[in-house]
Amino acid sequence: MSEARSAQYPVDAQFVERWSPRSLTGEAIDDQTLFSLFEAARWAPSAFNVQPWRFSYAKQGSDSWDTYLEFLNDFNRSWAKNASALVVVLSKTTSLSAEQEVENPSHSFDTGAAWASIALQAQLSGWVTHGMTGIHKEKIREVLALPGNYAVEAVVAIGKRGDKSVLPEGLQAKESPNERRPLEETVFEGLGFKA
Ligand SMILES: Cc1cc2nc3c(=O)[nH]c(=O)nc-3n(C[C@H](O)[C@H](O)[C@H](O)COP(=O)(O)O)c2cc1C
Repeated sequence: MSEARSAQYPVDAQFVERWSPRSLTGEAIDDQTLFSLFEAARWAPSAFNVQPWRFSYAKQGSDSWDTYLEFLNDFNRSWAKNASALVVVLSKTTSLSAEQEVENPSHSFDTGAAWASIALQAQLSGWVTHGMTGIHKEKIREVLALPGNYAVEAVVAIGKRGDKSVLPEGLQAKESPNERRPLEETVFEGLGFKA
């Protein structure tokens, strides 16, 4: 597959240029850069502006790095060990309404918007991201001592793109941008929805 993706309709290049590589250099990421990604997430829209997203991170080589690597399944650990940072994406499943914590039905939807902002800001800043749900959610819950009203959504690897040769052999062939379903299979006018 070539690295050139084509859009069906005109969009800003950042949308098609973002993809999720697995070959990463493992180089250090400074706080200024990392927090500019969290800043992008901070401005995501959310129902009632509740901002249910939470992020817990470890940087490559930090005291908690090995613990964070253990949050990943074996497959993801095989390549994400060369990330610069691993970010656990959490969401608060309840929100305060009339002084009571009630279920927030859009906690995952809103947190998805926040993660997308991280991915796009990273792309704009010359970094790459790779979302993962091949993770051990119960281990994360236990290690981070999460209260019951917090959900583990995903872990995101952040890094600089590296040479394919750092990847286990089977993954080298897959290291290129993938395609998308045509819009006709995703978007429906009026009552024309098709499953
Ligand atoms: C929530 C989520 C979970 C994902 N889980 C994994 C994963 O566990 N391992 C992996 O290698 N890629 C994972 N991916 C990457 C997707 O396969 C990838 O985003 C998708 O194929 C689209 O490709 P692109 O991001 O390169 O455009 C995940 C992506 C998302 C958004």
